[in-house]
Amino acid sequence: PSSASPTKSESKVIRRKLNGYVGFANFPKQWHRKSIRRGFTLNLMVVGEKGLGKSTLINTLFNRELYPLDEKPKAAFPSPEKPVKVSIETVSADIEENNVKLGLTVIDCPGFGEDIDNTDSWKPIVDEINQRFDMYLDAEIKINRSTIVDNRVHACLYFIEPTGHSLKPLDIQFMKEVHQKVNLIPVIAKSDTLTENEIAEFKLRILDDIKNQGIHIFTPPDYVNDDAETKEAAHEIISKAPFAIVGSTTQTQTQDGRVVRGRAYPWGVIEVDNEEHCDFIKLRQLVIRNFLEELKENTSNVLYENYRTQKLIKMGIKQDDTVFREFDPVLKQEEERQLHEAKLAAMETQMRSIFQASVAKEEKKLQATETDLFQKHKDMRDKLLKQIKLLEDKKAELEAARPMTHEKSTHQTSQPTKTRKGFLR
Ligand code: GTP
Repeated sequence: PSSASPTKSESKVIRRKLNGYVGFANFPKQWHRKSIRRGFTLNLMVVGEKGLGKSTLINTLFNRELYPLDEKPKAAFPSPEKPVKVSIETVSADIEENNVKLGLTVIDCPGFGEDIDNTDSWKPIVDEINQRFDMYLDAEIKINRSTIVDNRVHACLYFIEPTGHSLKPLDIQFMKEVHQKVNLIPVIAKSDTLTENEIAEFKLRILDDIKNQGIHIFTPPDYVNDDAETKEAAHEIISKAPFAIVGSTTQTQTQDGRVVRGRAYPWGVIEVDNEEHCDFIKLRQLVIRNFLEELKENTSNVLYENYRTQKLIKMGIKQDDTVFREFDPVLKQEEERQLHEAKLAAMETQMRSIFQASVAKEEKKLQATETDLFQKHKDMRDKLLKQIKLLEDKKAELEAARPMTHEKSTHQTSQPTKTRKGFLR
């Protein structure tokens, strides 16, 4: 045997049976207690064109009025002068079920797909996802990391319009932009507006598009240790994607007298919580019941890790699995210079466009003033011309009466009189 100590790869694993009870079989219980104490969190993003039932689905998923539907502001109509911008709105709520707490944050993106030109609709949403990653990264590199709040987006429900055809260019563009940054879960909105066959065919076409475009949608991992039942459940859930959903918080009575959450039609009731009517239950299993922790883990271990690695590489920091090795100050300086120049260029463009806009505004104002002045000048001229005309008329009148007046005046006085022009007569 060599006297050198074994390297990591040579170290031996000794397998022995335990002689007595040690206690680590209790780890899951410890974990359970800790989880209950700490509670759970979920940051869920919802994206889709207006009126596809996003708020209704969130209310249906969490079984409470997180979005009071009757208080919703009316959406603006787009016009070339007033483009509709995508904004980010968050609603947070602490909800509890059987003593288990969930800190839920819903990130809504109103305005998405509402403008006349929606080419860049995805940008503010990707910026939001990146910003949340950046905040986490900033918090991570601080000395005190004990209070990091995880604001990263854990899943994104993307609402597809129930057209029954295939994905629209906007759907494809959005999904391509976000699929490597967020756990993407596509859903077919308002699926009660399609027949069963239409849904099946629509799903196939959507899946084809997703595959052809290389879009990655979230699928729960297939763990070797999982029992057959868990694996089967996971497969069943995945097989339903994209989830054809129906949202409703309204209690409705079915023909056989049951009271269910659903949407009533003259021909019957579409039940939200009935797997034969829609995929709502499977979606809820994926997002909440079975795979909430997987969504968070995938966000942390895969999506955020990729983002972080790319970001650090850009900053000139290279990384292997465990340690930061290379740090090239020249490269970093060059990167910073480029970033700075890009910032300056962006500022310059912005300032130029602001300047151009204000010049155009002033020009418009001047033009308006000029027209106004011209009009005033014209009015004044007309008024003066009218006055001249009046005076001329009066003069003519006076002139006509003049010989008589003249005779009278010469007859009355022999004093010299002043003429109109001021000469002595
Ligand atoms: P915006 O906030 O304007 O983008 O709307 P939204 O996507 O949040 O839609 P919302 O939940 O406000 O629903 C819009 C309308 O669609 C409401 O009248 C809902 O009752 C109706 N609706 C919601 N879900 C469904 C559904 O699954 N099927 C049908 N048929 N209608 C639905």
